[in-house]
Amino acid sequence: MQSIKKLKPLAAIVGAGRTKFGELWYKNPEELLTEAGLKAMESVEYGLKRKDIQACYFGSFLYQVTNKLALIPGYMSRELGMNIPMSNTEAACGSGGSALYNACLGIRSGEYDVALVGGFEKMTDRAGKIIDDLMFAGDPHEFDAGYTFAGLYASMMARYIHDYGDDHGSGDRCREALALVACKNHHHAVGNEYAQFRREFTVADVLNSPLVADPIRMLHCSPVSDGAVALVVVSPDVAKKYTDTPIYVVGSQQATDDVSICSRESLTGIKATRLAMEKVLKETGMTMRDIHLAEVHDCFTIEEIFFLEDSGFCKKGDGWKTVYDSYESFKGSKHIPYVNGDKELVVNAGGGLKADGHPVGATGVRQVYECFKQLRNEAGGNQVDRELNVALCHNIGGTGGIATVHILVRELQ
Ligand code: COA
Repeated sequence: MQSIKKLKPLAAIVGAGRTKFGELWYKNPEELLTEAGLKAMESVEYGLKRKDIQACYFGSFLYQVTNKLALIPGYMSRELGMNIPMSNTEAACGSGGSALYNACLGIRSGEYDVALVGGFEKMTDRAGKIIDDLMFAGDPHEFDAGYTFAGLYASMMARYIHDYGDDHGSGDRCREALALVACKNHHHAVGNEYAQFRREFTVADVLNSPLVADPIRMLHCSPVSDGAVALVVVSPDVAKKYTDTPIYVVGSQQATDDVSICSRESLTGIKATRLAMEKVLKETGMTMRDIHLAEVHDCFTIEEIFFLEDSGFCKKGDGWKTVYDSYESFKGSKHIPYVNGDKELVVNAGGGLKADGHPVGATGVRQVYECFKQLRNEAGGNQVDRELNVALCHNIGGTGGIATVHILVRELQ
């Protein structure tokens, strides 16, 4: 790694706020976003005046469908009492990460010094229809063929078990590892006051939970959720005006790929993740050895294992073994890290999408909120008990049509 002090920060985060995730039936999307936004603004150590904010970047996927709304900037102009430029980014489950990516571009360009970034989604009002709605982010042929997102990821998981999980003929330990990802993330969420689910599950619970799309069962899935998260993102030059402990964004990259899994090179990994990871590691001069904490897009447990391989933390096909061996070694500890040789990584410290919840447009921003709190040692009862200086956020849309990766650093030297 190049010396961290030589890294030129692209932006800095000086405030963060969020709502609880879950079934929030009595709040509409703009109320959720306003609650998170005000909390983020109020959290700024030396105060942030409303007139300091020069632009807002929102991320959301389905609010036109779920709440029959459009033009969220107009609603937010009313809620926040501001008339500044605002935009909304739609990139399915990757909308939040993409909104932050765009905000970083606005700050890097020199156009803005202070921006508010917000991610939100309101899914539970749509009850059973939401599963079809989510397929806007799938290829229409996949939808016509009867696929849901659980179905698409089930195809990927089945292929992975077939290609790499054949452990002396049975694949049982690989299936167990795919369940352990859920057990770990639910375990991490127990101390997270905002999480949708704060209870532990065993491998048997996961493997006996209702079948959704073979081999995916209910407890391999992220839930349907409502929620919002916001960040105050500023230019590094003005960061110390707002707080003594800004968290610097030192890497911000994105890559895309065909929306359909049918035309992918491989079903057992996410090319957009691989490309975005290569770019962000090059941009920062880091390797996976340098990352202490990663918030990973675990919409279905197989996706967390794909990340371990696509990021280079593990060799292709070895991700499930790392999960299995790490869980065996660290079960019972407050956070269960993944260990591979000299690399050690805590993944999804607040429970990830699996247990914290997955209001899709909010997720990418929630990942940054979690890292911001953890890096500042402000995660309360859920604080990771080890030295944390570098964190990574990995947010994807659909089955990997887009991937955005950010690297955050507490101390530049
Ligand atoms: N993980 C853990 N518990 C879950 C859960 C999940 N994913 N989904 C629901 N539950 C719990 C509920 O809280 C409820 O618990 P309770 O009985 O103690 O109140 C119980 O399971 C039944 O909930 P219900 O809402 O009836 O479940 P469901 O069968 O309608 O939905 C899934 C379960 C898995 C089908 C749904 O969560 C799902 O489709 N998830 C995937 C969402 C998705 O595709 N997102 C996009 C990713 S790309």
